[in-house]
Amino acid sequence: MSTVVAADAASQDSPDTILASLPGPAPRAAFVSQGAFLYLDTFLPADVTAKLIAGVHAVEGAVNRNYLPGHKQGGSVSRHKIDELAPAIAQLYRSPVLIQWLETLCGEPLQPSPDDDPHAYALYFYTKPGDHIGWHYDTSYYEGRRYTLLLGVIDDSSCFLEYRLHTRDNNVRISEDAVQIPPGGMVFFDGDRLHHRITPLRANERRVSLTFEYVTNPHMRPLQRFMSNMKDAVAYFGFRQVFRQLLGKRTSQA
Ligand SMILES: [Fe+2]
Repeated sequence: MSTVVAADAASQDSPDTILASLPGPAPRAAFVSQGAFLYLDTFLPADVTAKLIAGVHAVEGAVNRNYLPGHKQGGSVSRHKIDELAPAIAQLYRSPVLIQWLETLCGEPLQPSPDDDPHAYALYFYTKPGDHIGWHYDTSYYEGRRYTLLLGVIDDSSCFLEYRLHTRDNNVRISEDAVQIPPGGMVFFDGDRLHHRITPLRANERRVSLTFEYVTNPHMRPLQRFMSNMKDAVAYFGFRQVFRQLLGKRTSQA
């Protein structure tokens, strides 16, 4: 009897309890031909998407709003708040089924971002007219590549992800397109190779997406870590969420 209880407890703690399978096989040829980019309008099972939506409702009180005139407006929730309030999202981030599928897609081993990276997994809330982000790359401050998995969670909006392929590929013609990411859909790309933006939210619309960041080398030099933290503090999560460990140490020493 106690063995069964222990096994049940272990299975509930397993990252794979949230995700049994994904569409297969991973379409690597399409990913390569599009310059390290893939869009799928159907990716996660409906029950997993339902857990993500529940996670969104759990963190709504912890959204940090940011305004960077001319570039960005919207709300964000860092991995630290997700760990506290929506642990199923952190569980999905570490799912071996998910990571192995993405490794097959990109053709190289991936690792979760380190525990002190507030952007390892994060929710983006577009809830006010004009919420958007301008053209940018998801620049890697790590010594290796940084891949972004962007998952649709809630999309009652007219927002598009607009993107340009091959902007940094020699002798390949640049192509542009735009997609909406419905709940359960995804895009996956090498952050330094996809030029992209999200078009502005209109009145009475709402859009929540989830970003997962995976890296090929989790080491980051101190200056790059400082730059990455400053970007996350100013543009996404606020100084309290980003520098929480340092703030905590100072508080405990006071
Ligand atoms: Fe981005």
